[in-house]
Amino acid sequence: MEIYTLKFLHFLAIFIAGGVGVGGAVIQSVHAKAKQAPSPLVGRSMQILGFLGLGSLVVLWLSGLRLVGVIYPGADLGTAFIIKLTGASALLILSILANLHIYKSSKNKTPPNANFMKPITSLSRVALVFVLAGAVVTFNN
Ligand code: HEM
Repeated sequence: MEIYTLKFLHFLAIFIAGGVGVGGAVIQSVHAKAKQAPSPLVGRSMQILGFLGLGSLVVLWLSGLRLVGVIYPGADLGTAFIIKLTGASALLILSILANLHIYKSSKNKTPPNANFMKPITSLSRVALVFVLAGAVVTFNN
């Protein structure tokens, strides 16, 4: 039963983090094309999205670590799993940086800086490919 719950949480968190990633990228690209900074309400929405994204990454880490402990205790899951964890670590760090930036800009009542956020979005995409490719190869049976 614990494994079912953990896997359910793991997949639910993937769903939420994915939604935040795609939604955030669309908001950024629409504003970049229109050469406009996000309005305070859009900025507030980005803040909530960023928080949801970070929360779901934390759930991914907690459920993932527990899954390893319950299903594969002491097992060497191989290079693909290390690649998955490297990507997951990068996503966590990038999400913390984005959240701090958005929090600071909302506190200072300035719009988030596109020059700071754009590379975070691009790097997150690369990290996501690492995580998903790593998961596909590691759990290939
Ligand atoms: C961004 C973060 C993460 C994403 C997007 C992600 C994605 C996935 C996906 C798609 C699967 C399904 C693979 C399959 O069943 O074929 C999976 C399973 C799994 N993940 Fe993650 N994961 C993340 C973080 C983590 C972390 C940090 C850990 C461990 C520290 C972890 C441990 C596991 C384990 C053990 C399974 C397999 C459980 C089983 O054998 O059925 N994951 N993950």
